[in-house]
Amino acid sequence: MRFATRLALFATAIALPAAIPISAALGVDNPVRADLTDKDLARVRAVTEPTTDFSKPEKFETMQAGAATSTKLVNRDSFSHVSANQTFAGEDQFKLGNALFRKLWVSAPSSTEASDGLGPLYNARSCQACHLKDGRGHPPAPGETASSMFLRLSVPPKTEEERAKLASREFTRIPEPTYGGQLQNFAVSGLEPEGRMVIEYEEKPVTLGDGTVVNLRHPTYSVADLGYGAMAEDVMLSPRVAPPMIGLGLVEQIEPADILALADPNDADGDGISGKPSMAREPETGELVLGRFGWKATTPSIKVQSAEAFAGDIGISTPLVTDAFGECSIAQTVCRDAPSGVQERLGEVEAPDPILDLVTFYSRNLAVPARRDVGDETVLRGKEMFYSAGCASCHTPKFVTSRDAPDKAQAFQLIWPYSDFLLHDMGEGLADNRPVGDASGREWRTQPLWGIGLTETVNGHTLFLHDGRARNLTEAILWHGGEAEASRDAYAAMDKADREALQAFLESL
Ligand code: HEC
Ligand code: HEC
Repeated sequence: MRFATRLALFATAIALPAAIPISAALGVDNPVRADLTDKDLARVRAVTEPTTDFSKPEKFETMQAGAATSTKLVNRDSFSHVSANQTFAGEDQFKLGNALFRKLWVSAPSSTEASDGLGPLYNARSCQACHLKDGRGHPPAPGETASSMFLRLSVPPKTEEERAKLASREFTRIPEPTYGGQLQNFAVSGLEPEGRMVIEYEEKPVTLGDGTVVNLRHPTYSVADLGYGAMAEDVMLSPRVAPPMIGLGLVEQIEPADILALADPNDADGDGISGKPSMAREPETGELVLGRFGWKATTPSIKVQSAEAFAGDIGISTPLVTDAFGECSIAQTVCRDAPSGVQERLGEVEAPDPILDLVTFYSRNLAVPARRDVGDETVLRGKEMFYSAGCASCHTPKFVTSRDAPDKAQAFQLIWPYSDFLLHDMGEGLADNRPVGDASGREWRTQPLWGIGLTETVNGHTLFLHDGRARNLTEAILWHGGEAEASRDAYAAMDKADREALQAFLESL
């Protein structure tokens, strides 16, 4: 358990030395799916082949999450429905998980039974407070305290021991000595919050091929009102907004072989796009597996991500991350001594079983809404633009999930997430210059695009990218650099009608 605690808090993903081939690390020389017969494998390959016909929609394209797709009416609740193919028993579990996802944790000791243990340091009091309407968070408005976005923190290794821990893959990064791996901007009463995230934006114009001028806001991040003394001078900051919660259980059931087959870390095919898998430690087994969750793919599973969120974001211990004081460092003694919410008759942690499992089940089963307007002429034209501009080189349209998925609702579904779940160098503009695990300071995981067209409907805004800097889809595309430079340039060179068609395609997802 101590091993699990340390790993989950400080080192879910571990840097893989360049000398070890990824496939060898996974124990597969030639990544081929083991869950299928040769005949099924051939069928899967045929159906996931990128299309070349843009005259009509593809078969099953509307149901972008297979049989799990929600066909309910489009409205503010569009990201909150259960996988359409879940059983009745599954729906009941989903409802229990939903209640826990929305639950507001309070500080200990409280009069409410089994609801306390908040913090002592925290970023929000519930999962839902960040994953608003099961959708995405946003940067704070001027003068507001950030609530659905936070800063990750770390420092470069300095001692031999630290370097060894990074090299031996025990740590993904070295936490800031006092403030840890994340800036918590709230604390229970009587304690100081760690500090405040400050964002400053500078507008810079970009001119497109047809003379249209678009302003991009360039953010700069810093911290103010530090509650526990100075931060290390070489601290590295990485801003993150809460991503949408839909379709995650299906993403978890994509066979690693299918993702690894897309990797081209040395750009052997010379298309300017490499794509690197992020390898992460599974804390329960200690094994090195494919990371797929989080903006840098440092987390191997939904369960681990949820346990880390309970600990780091809300300050609640679970069987996977057992420290009741959440993310208080050794230097923050007052905070470590604060009362915890552990109730011995319920177990050793603040959120004992089955809380983590129910929240994990919920997080696996939020349905992706069906696509709209797949046969619309402009949408089809936009789809063609998406392919011709090279967007699909990273935003991989289709996968068929594992036949061996433990829950049949996620098994053998044709899904359209529009991501390869690999890391890409996205250039200086998007860089956070904070390496973590296998991801360099310029690398990000391709963000899935399914559901993106309903962001405004569900969340009331169109703020995109890992830190919400883009104010609409156009800005999000224009921020693409590095490996995506050619794609971005192809977009900038399109005429207005083609850009609008591409936008209509994205809005239909
Ligand atoms: C303070 C805001 C905040 C709270 C509270 C929060 N999250 Fe998150 N969540 C995030 C951010 C930010 C990320 C992206 C993390 C990263 O890139 O490292 C994330 C990522 C995730 C992911 C991975 C999604 C993906 O597309 O990869 C899951 C699953 C998740 N959170 C579940 C939960 C659960 C369950 C809870 C409650 C126990 C929770 N979160 C509470 C902000 C939050
Ligand atoms: C080299 C790989 C690559 C290519 C090519 C690429 N993207 Fe992306 N895309 C990414 C990554 C990585 C992110 C996440 C970046 C971030 O958040 O900082 C992203 C993010 C996005 C987002 C924002 C998603 C969100 O939820 O915030 C949109 C929209 C998008 N891409 C559209 C496109 C379009 C349209 C094209 C083609 C013109 C394209 N991308 C080409 C890798 C790529």
